[in-house]
Amino acid sequence: MAYLQTDVTKVTTRVLQNMKLHGEKIAMLTAYDFSMAALLESTKIDVVLVGDSAANVMEGHKTTLPITLDEMIVYATSVVRAINRALVVVDMPFGTYQGNSKQALASAIRIMKETGADAIKLEGGEEVLESVQRILSAGIPVMGHLGLTPQSINKFGTYAVRATEQEEADRLKRDALILQEAGCFAIVLEKIPAALAAEVTAELKIPTIGIGAGQATDGQVLVLQDMLGITRQFMPRYLRTYGTFGEDIANAIRHYISDVKSGDFPNEKEQY
Ligand code: KIV
Repeated sequence: MAYLQTDVTKVTTRVLQNMKLHGEKIAMLTAYDFSMAALLESTKIDVVLVGDSAANVMEGHKTTLPITLDEMIVYATSVVRAINRALVVVDMPFGTYQGNSKQALASAIRIMKETGADAIKLEGGEEVLESVQRILSAGIPVMGHLGLTPQSINKFGTYAVRATEQEEADRLKRDALILQEAGCFAIVLEKIPAALAAEVTAELKIPTIGIGAGQATDGQVLVLQDMLGITRQFMPRYLRTYGTFGEDIANAIRHYISDVKSGDFPNEKEQY
């Protein structure tokens, strides 16, 4: 299949909008460091998300709440150094935008100025509208995130599927329209029923990117380490793995240890 947007030298929010218009799916993956981002850059990935899932994947926290703005800026700066083509989106961490729109703008400006990223993402709908508007008014593109919003895990009390009840589904649809109206360029829909994601996607003019939200969304996102089979303890139903790299890496390390212990490494050709 010929992909319409394959030849663009830089993916912009406009390109994503075009992809939705032409029915070309958007492929998004996370990255937190230079070497993984360089691998992503060697592909035709459309969007790279410096997700606050770095709190789990890189730092071993149980939730995404502890990660700081300074930490996100370090991860994002490393990723941006490796990426030319993809749109780079950086998550705003918990506590940097919820309560105060001036603080939200200051946090977003720090991300854009210090990392060189293309856009920010934040979680929530109407309750963060003022922050979204203020960030947008400074010319910073905003990606929304609805459904399972991991920064609210202490309110939800579970990582189960969201919006299965009519009331929450109606609120999500309203929030999606509010974010679109405010000027967000795309919305992540996480872990919601496929039928609801399809309805939202059909109603919105801006692209939706799903994770555990079925086939109908305009794009898909996964955490890179999850889809590579590196984070082996995390296996939700929506996750498809494209390799067993966790096992492969562990095997390579076992092989190296055995070679060192046996004296096989280094050999004569591997010395000066
Ligand atoms: O932090 C993250 O990686 C995310 C994606 C799972 C959408 O928000």
